[in-house]
Amino acid sequence: MSETAPDGSPVDLYAQLPQRGEGEIVARAVGRDSEILELGCGAGRITRQLLARGFRVVAVDQSEEMLAHVEGAERVRADIETLELGRRFDAVLLASNLVNAESDEQRRAFLDTCRRNVAEGGVVVIEGLPLGWRPAPDESRLGDIVTRVVDVAVDGDVVRGVVEYERHTDHWRHPFAMRVFDEGGLRAALAEAGLQLQRFLDDHGSWLTAVPAPRGRA
Ligand SMILES: C[S@@+](CC[C@H](N)C(=O)[O-])C[C@H]1O[C@@H](n2cnc3c(N)ncnc32)[C@H](O)[C@@H]1O
Repeated sequence: MSETAPDGSPVDLYAQLPQRGEGEIVARAVGRDSEILELGCGAGRITRQLLARGFRVVAVDQSEEMLAHVEGAERVRADIETLELGRRFDAVLLASNLVNAESDEQRRAFLDTCRRNVAEGGVVVIEGLPLGWRPAPDESRLGDIVTRVVDVAVDGDVVRGVVEYERHTDHWRHPFAMRVFDEGGLRAALAEAGLQLQRFLDDHGSWLTAVPAPRGRA
């Protein structure tokens, strides 16, 4: 039985999932010599891509088992919600759909942490579910890992289900419950944290940058 992080992410699965171009997307969105605060780094899949591009990375996760796979970055074991490092970063990365937390309170706390830890003039890079997302019924492939979403239930803007992964004889299941946004909802969520949408980085509204909102208006 593989170990799982408190959020249900299987550790050995995340240690072997392939890169999917995340480093390139982030590199295009942040300044060249940026120090990046990566929230929810997992086993370092994106961390490695950022380090390979010359960025300095502070990698945060609440799972000791996940962090044990991260090398070459400053590692911080902490809950994102209450993270206090006493310094600000050129860029803060919140990837892996953490912005789609089912709980409004948790999402607010995640985005507050982004706002609290980004320098004035800095940028927050977010990867969430595509706007209006619904799971596709088909299988897809991540390298040699086959994945599908099963047991889907949609309740308003919350989608629940289980992501199944299969590689040769290995199987993993990752149950999820995520809040799906339209563009207005996403802008409102950012505004609550004192952030404003700067631009989308892809055609699905999945990757975006946000910046501190001017004082007095979010
Ligand atoms: C789905 S995994 C993604 C890992 C990595 N970003 C990737 O793309 O491979 C999500 C990670 O976020 C971490 N995480 C989830 N909620 C967290 C929280 N509240 N505080 C700190 N880490 C959290 C989990 O432990 C897990 O390692």
